[in-house]
Order: sequence, then C-alpha cells, then structure tokens
Amino acid sequence: MIKKPSIETITVKYLVNFLLILAVILLIVTAFNFRALSKSATENQAMVYAELVRAGLTAHMKANIMHKRDYYMNEIKQLQKIKKLRVIRSDEVIKQFGRGREDEQGADAFAKQVFETRQPFFESKEWRLQPAIRVIIPYIASREGTLDCLSCHKVTEGVVLGVVDIELDVTEYRNHSLYVLAGMLLLSLLFMMLIALNTSRTIHNLVQVPLETLIDRTKEAYHKHIPVSPEQFMTEEFANVANEINLFNTDIIAHQDLLKEKNRELLVLNSEIENTLRETIYTMGVIEEQRSNETHNHTKRVTLYSQLLAEKMGLSKDDVDLVTAASPLHDIGKLGIPDKVLLKPGQLTNEEHQVMQNHARIGFTMLSHSSRDLLKAAGLIALQHHEKWDGSGYPQGLKGEQIHAFGRIVALADVFDALYSERIYKKAWHIDKVVNWISEQRGGHFDPTLVDIFLENMDEFVVINKHYPSALSKLS
Ligand SMILES: [Fe+2]
Ligand SMILES: [Fe+2]
Repeated sequence: MIKKPSIETITVKYLVNFLLILAVILLIVTAFNFRALSKSATENQAMVYAELVRAGLTAHMKANIMHKRDYYMNEIKQLQKIKKLRVIRSDEVIKQFGRGREDEQGADAFAKQVFETRQPFFESKEWRLQPAIRVIIPYIASREGTLDCLSCHKVTEGVVLGVVDIELDVTEYRNHSLYVLAGMLLLSLLFMMLIALNTSRTIHNLVQVPLETLIDRTKEAYHKHIPVSPEQFMTEEFANVANEINLFNTDIIAHQDLLKEKNRELLVLNSEIENTLRETIYTMGVIEEQRSNETHNHTKRVTLYSQLLAEKMGLSKDDVDLVTAASPLHDIGKLGIPDKVLLKPGQLTNEEHQVMQNHARIGFTMLSHSSRDLLKAAGLIALQHHEKWDGSGYPQGLKGEQIHAFGRIVALADVFDALYSERIYKKAWHIDKVVNWISEQRGGHFDPTLVDIFLENMDEFVVINKHYPSALSKLS
C-alpha cells in the first residue's frame, strides 16, 4: 500500500506555504514604504543643511563679513554626514560682486536645471558602496521676511541668486533600513514557526490522534463485536461518528447473523439434495439388480467394496465419495439388454454374449449426457468395469492405467462379489478359492496394486459380505 501523507503534514505544508507568501508580500510592501520614508528623512535633513547654509551666508552678507564666509563654510562642512558642500553664484551675483571663490562658479547640468526651474533638485545615490544623496536648492531673491535680499542685490525679486549644492552620506540610513528589514524577516520567520507549530499541535491533538483511535476502535468493533465508546473523544464530531459507526456495525452484525443462518440452511438443503441424488442412484442400481436377477444386496456390497478399495488405494476424499456414490450404476446398461438374453437361464451363445457385453456402452450412453461429476463418474464406471489390466477386457480393450482408477476398482469389487456369492447357476466359491483366483489375476484381469490391497485387507471384505448377505445361503 502506498504511504500517503497525514492530514497534519498536508495542513502544515499548506500553512507554511501560505505564510511564506504572506511574509514575502509584507516584506516587499514594508521595504518600499521604509525606503520612501528614509529617502524623505534624508532629503529633509539635506534641505535643513542647505537652508542653514543659505541663512548663514545671508547673515554674513547683512553683517558685511562676506569675506569671512570661508570660516563658516568650513565649519558647516565638518558636520557629520556632509560629504560635499558648495555655493554656486548666479551670473547676476558674479556681475555685482565678482566671481568669488573658485568653487563658487561652474554649475553642472543639475545646478543649471535648478537655476532655470527654481525648484530644488534631489539625486539619490543609494546603491553605491558609500551611499549618498545630493540636494541642490535655489537661493531666490525675496523682499519678504527679515531677509530682504534686494537691499543688497541689485536684481529683481524672484531671480535665483545662487544655489546651495550639498551631498550627504546616507550609509547610516541605509544600514539602519537593512537592519530593520532583517529584523522583520527574522520576526516573521519566528512568527510563522510558532503558527505552524501551534497548528500542527492542534491538528495532531484534535484530528490526527482521535482519527487514529477511531480507526483502531472501528476495527475492534467489527472483529470483536464491541461498540465504539463516544465518551473517549473530546469533540462532538468524532463522538457523532462513533455513534454512527455503532449503528452501522449493529446493522452489519445483524445481517451477518442472518447470512450465517441462511448459509446453514443452504448447506443442509444442499446436503439433502446430494443425499437424495445418491439414494436415487443407489435405488436405480437396486432396480437394475432386481431386473437382472442379481443376488440380493449385490449393489450394496459392490458399493462398500469399492469404497474400501478407493480408501486403501489413497484416493482423495472427493474421489472416494464419487466412486462410492457412482458404483451402484455399474450395470445400469443391463436395462437396455433384452430379457431373453439377460434372463436366459442357460449358457449364452457367442452372439448373445456379444449382446450382453453391450451393457457397458449402453450404461455409458445413458449417463454421458450429464455434466454432473457424479453421473459422469457413473458413466465412466459403467463403460470400463469390464476392462482388464492386460487389455483383454471389453468394450474398448483398454490396458493398465488407460483404465480409470474407478473402472479398475469396480471391476475387482464386482468380480469378487460374483465369485463369493451364490447365484442361481452356481454355488458361492470358498474364500480360499476366491483368493487364489484373484491372486492369479494380479496383472491379468486386475490392477496389481488393487489385488495387493484386496489381499492385505481380506478380512474387511469378508465382514462386508457377512453384513449384507445375499438371500441365498452360501459357503464361506
Ligand atoms: Fe457388468
Ligand atoms: Fe455387477
């Protein structure tokens, strides 16, 4: 039988698959959100630094100490996380105040874009070995607030005076993100393991164990005819199944008892039919015996001699039964022989003898139509009971083991009874004479093995003969 997975295994497997997919989806969603949050935080920090630079420079300007701005810028650059920092002047500022420091000129494409659009620019470099974020914010001339740019700059309001270009190291942010994600992953796995373990335990206790118990108890209930106790189950469902099994079992047991009873009746009926058939066959043999003026009880004795020989020969019980039941019909063919031949008191002529010998084939013809083993065996015996071991018998002149064992057995039983019983035309032979004659026919008329069996068990044959005597007195 192929070993199939248990309910517990399948459930845990599906659950783990489901939880894995759920964890992956959760991780992806969280990772995206966390990245967006981190990006926004670093951008804000960069904006704050840039605003700080812008405000500081404005303050320098108002205090008329712009020539000392290097000191301030260098201090800002020392702040943690700042990788690069520069201020780029606009053409208007260069025109009014000169080119300034070397790094305050030469805007790249991104800075030029900020000059044109007046919108901050962000560039993320998060996938590098040392991740960074670059922010460029415009410094727009305004009259509003305390910083009145136009009081110093000779430009119209809204003109971009310059940009602050700052690059921040975000390694810490990135590592922090990775630690958070790894932590979440570990936590998810732990959570999944706990759910799987708990589910497995629940299914094991509430389904697997009661189911196995139910199977064992059901087998026991069927074989030992004892009910399955619903009290041993924790859950209502299993208790209900136990009750149903009990009802079902009671029904089956009742049916089995009924079937056994019917079977017993059938066996009795069958036995009666078989006995009736045997009695009918035996009666047919007796009828033939009467018509042929055979000595009284000839049929009975031949039947018992045949049974004795078959048993001693070692035939199977079925074959012993067959030859015993079929032997009464060995001479049934005589019913087809005309009275003038069959009942002729004197010696038969050769022609009459020929007619008489036909009884073997006639008997076979009478019985050969049947497909039943018993009548087929009777037909075989009728055909072969006058065959002789040396091939000199009739009607087919069969030899040795060409003659069926049943035919050989009945041949010896029939002849023994003929010799050892008194008939109208002859006295019964003395047992010694019978024994001598049969011994002489060992390998001649009769099967040598059967002759040996006969000689070894002579007493039993004689007992049968005495028990079922012929009506005429006989010598013994
Ligand atoms: Fe015969
Ligand atoms: Fe006979």
